[in-house]
Amino acid sequence: MLKSTIILGIESSCDETSAAVLVDGKILANIIANQDVHKLYGGVVPELASRAHQQNIVPVVDAAIKKAGISKNDLSAVAFTRGPGLIGSLLVGTSFAKAFAMALDVPLIEVNHMQGHILAHFIDDASQQKPEFPFICLTVSGGHTQVVLVKNYFDMEILGETIDDAAGEAFDKAAKIMNLPYPGGPLIDKYAKEGNPLMFKFTKPQIPDLNFSFSGLKTQFINFINNESAKNADFVEQNKVDICASIQHTIIEILMDKLKKAVEKTGVSQIAIAGGVSANSGLRNRLMEEQTNLNWKVFIPKFEYCTDNAAMIAITGYYKFLQNEFAEQNTTPMARYKL
Ligand code: KG4
Ligand code: ZN
Repeated sequence: MLKSTIILGIESSCDETSAAVLVDGKILANIIANQDVHKLYGGVVPELASRAHQQNIVPVVDAAIKKAGISKNDLSAVAFTRGPGLIGSLLVGTSFAKAFAMALDVPLIEVNHMQGHILAHFIDDASQQKPEFPFICLTVSGGHTQVVLVKNYFDMEILGETIDDAAGEAFDKAAKIMNLPYPGGPLIDKYAKEGNPLMFKFTKPQIPDLNFSFSGLKTQFINFINNESAKNADFVEQNKVDICASIQHTIIEILMDKLKKAVEKTGVSQIAIAGGVSANSGLRNRLMEEQTNLNWKVFIPKFEYCTDNAAMIAITGYYKFLQNEFAEQNTTPMARYKL
């Protein structure tokens, strides 16, 4: 019988410390420790994130190995996020992965976080269909907004990306203006379900090609909230669900316009979404509608593989392992790391 390939994945690029165990493409454990400390500050504080990773990394890896029911000596390789992300946070995962791989005498594999978000679609899961190449992936997270043409596991072309804020940032900043806690994306999603998406109108930016911009929308939103609050101090509280539904609707419209353009440009109509904002129920529903209306084939990841997680790092590591693509012990993390 062929020996199984068992990959330990480690993710520490932002404010989630995560470890996953993947056996021949299937996830046996995907442990995620969130960092509540940032809620006090309305955003991620890099220095506090690195310290929390330091505290979390050993217990999280230990929990993943125990949950998977394996021994650390069964591991075939250790895969870690090299970037992009916060350098101090990346350093913790990178240093741990290097030391662990060296101690176990197994190969080390470096992973690009954004490739990880996309390749999460290839985790073996009975409830999940995998896209075929080529497909278009809309990668929408707190730090990135990209339309990517995915030609193969490691052959990806960015067709367009944001020139300023990311889509997740647009959600989080809108939430902050409404005095909602960080991260605001999931809360806007929650309130939007009860609101009227057409109640308040915001204009969409006119950005050429397949690029995005969200900073103008943010300014428009700040002005709108300030003007209305000057007339009625309880405006936000009284209209919360409609404001959330309307801003979410506008962000989704901006994303969908570019996706449609990308399909026109490439002739590829298999569409996947990835990254934290792909957890948004409005975006997920809208894509399912367009699947029928426009004859697209749509791939939506399971919730646990949308926001940052180590399962996506482990699956990317697995494909690199199959092609013998290993990293050296002197590999360093990269805050900026192109797809
Ligand atoms: O991929 P991710 O976990 O981290 C980065 O790599 O940035 O994405 C985090 C982002 C945050 O901006 C968060 O507000 C957003 O994803 N997010 C959502 C939802 N869940 C997470 N945005 C809208 N609706 C959601 N349900
Ligand atoms: Zn991410």
